[in-house]
Amino acid sequence: MKQYLAIDIGGTAVKLGIVDETGAVGPKAEESVNFDGYQTPVLATVLKAARAFVETQNIDVNTLEGVGVSATGQIDSRKGIVAGTCGNFPNYINSPIQAELERLFGLPVTVANDANCMTLGEVWVGGAKGYTDVIGVTLGTGVGGGILTGGRLLEGARGLGGELGHYRTHALDGIPCTCGATGCWERYAATTALVRAAQEKDPAWKDGRAIFAAAEAGNETVLALLDAWTDEIAQGLAGMVHIFNPQLILIGGGVSAQQKLLIEPIAAKVRASVMPAFAEGLEIRAAQLHNDAGMVGAVYYFRQQHGET
Ligand code: BGC
Ligand code: NA
Ligand code: ZN
Repeated sequence: MKQYLAIDIGGTAVKLGIVDETGAVGPKAEESVNFDGYQTPVLATVLKAARAFVETQNIDVNTLEGVGVSATGQIDSRKGIVAGTCGNFPNYINSPIQAELERLFGLPVTVANDANCMTLGEVWVGGAKGYTDVIGVTLGTGVGGGILTGGRLLEGARGLGGELGHYRTHALDGIPCTCGATGCWERYAATTALVRAAQEKDPAWKDGRAIFAAAEAGNETVLALLDAWTDEIAQGLAGMVHIFNPQLILIGGGVSAQQKLLIEPIAAKVRASVMPAFAEGLEIRAAQLHNDAGMVGAVYYFRQQHGET
């Protein structure tokens, strides 16, 4: 059975795990990372965590086929580097992730955007198995996106494709985005956008958990905020449906477990907003793989790049 090391570099944590050729996840670990300021470079933290992981787990790296990395930001998959970040993250941008990991382990390495990986993971062993035309989105600190079209991941020229969070839904009069533009979808559709709006009403609504708890208790203010938030999410998705004509939209991120208060309203609003022909046969559901999606997808990406699928 072929085995791979998977690494998922997210906004707050780096996850490591062993994934096999069937997409099953073996031992895993998690380490927090700091993206801010001029502190420890993120890549140094990743390398240290990777070394510690194989040591603790007693893994002989010579038995592994390679390393698949999923990473937040604009990942140039051809060069295996972080080509861009939203916001000023000098300790992350330009990180030569692929070269450094290849040097550390003497194994081939691929690097791809986290939401592109999430989408591929869902296609391989999750909720998008058997589908050829899929839009995957992750709602969190930012909004990530991945597009599968005609059975292939849409990567664009450098692997930067599918950066849906920076699709500009309010281009002309929008909120400034950390990427330098205004009106990016992410400013309105991320979980942080919901939290920001909720905080203005009541400081106790400080995260998704508190907000959804209040909504479940029937709080009218929160229900109105959720309604406005799902409108923003749905309007962005509706635009994308017209471009990609997907069979399936998968919504991931910590909040995606909220079936009644999030997934169902989004699904209804997207259907109501697109031209009827696009709604026919369109499924809109929560993603399935949760925390492991990035790791599993990173390995699937590696396997595709190495002709193993
Ligand atoms: C970044 C994307 C990333 C997403 C989720 C966004 O802010 O621009 O590259 O996929 O967050 O991490
Ligand atoms: Na993406
Ligand atoms: Zn932006």
